[in-house]
Amino acid sequence: MAIRKLDGKELVVATHNAGKVREIGELIAPFGLTAKSAGELGLAEPEENGTTFEQNAYTKAHASALATGLPSLADDSGLCVAALDGAPGVYTADWAEQEDGTRDFAKAMQLVEDKLNECGADEPSKRGAMFVATLCLCWPDGHAEYFRGEVHGQLIWPPTGTQGFGYDPVFLPDGEDRTFGQMSAEEKHGWTPGGDIPLSHRARAFAKFAEGCLD
Ligand code: IMP
Repeated sequence: MAIRKLDGKELVVATHNAGKVREIGELIAPFGLTAKSAGELGLAEPEENGTTFEQNAYTKAHASALATGLPSLADDSGLCVAALDGAPGVYTADWAEQEDGTRDFAKAMQLVEDKLNECGADEPSKRGAMFVATLCLCWPDGHAEYFRGEVHGQLIWPPTGTQGFGYDPVFLPDGEDRTFGQMSAEEKHGWTPGGDIPLSHRARAFAKFAEGCLD
């Protein structure tokens, strides 16, 4: 079946995460689209209890589309480590969760490193990982389109670089000599319509979304 196009210029970015709103806002700007975030619209944050990135992205996009009557775009993403059978995967944010409800990514990176050490992943070939991002665009009638982006690489230790967010300082993308934490936002996510394949998982998913749904 053909991919449904986005008609109209208004889109809700179904997230309360300010970093994601900013990144998606930058990516859609060349298409003349404006984005409002679920946070700005005062929407409640739905519980993410799916076992796949697709399920969680749909939960967020569908709740927002129903509440606003507008097409809504949600992102669900995470880090999948080969030696840990794909963990933390959809639980990537949870691994950073502290008892007081805040998130500590220094501790989350240490936890991943401890688990890699426990299973003897002491050389680069045993430390493969990928970041995954799934975008779901959902309309108020429930129709949904999905776009998945991946970037493969390896985990390094100690964390290196102060840019980006989350697990960026330990992720070295294949073919690069700097971690995501050492790259500018432009280097990590930069993409222009019709341009080369971007580097980050989120920008790769977005490029597919733009090709499929935007004119
Ligand atoms: P969620 O998609 O909001 O459920 O959370 C995804 C989790 O994966 C976040 O906690 C991020 O820390 C992590 N993550 C996703 N994308 C990236 C990235 O580009 N860099 C670093 N961490 C990321």
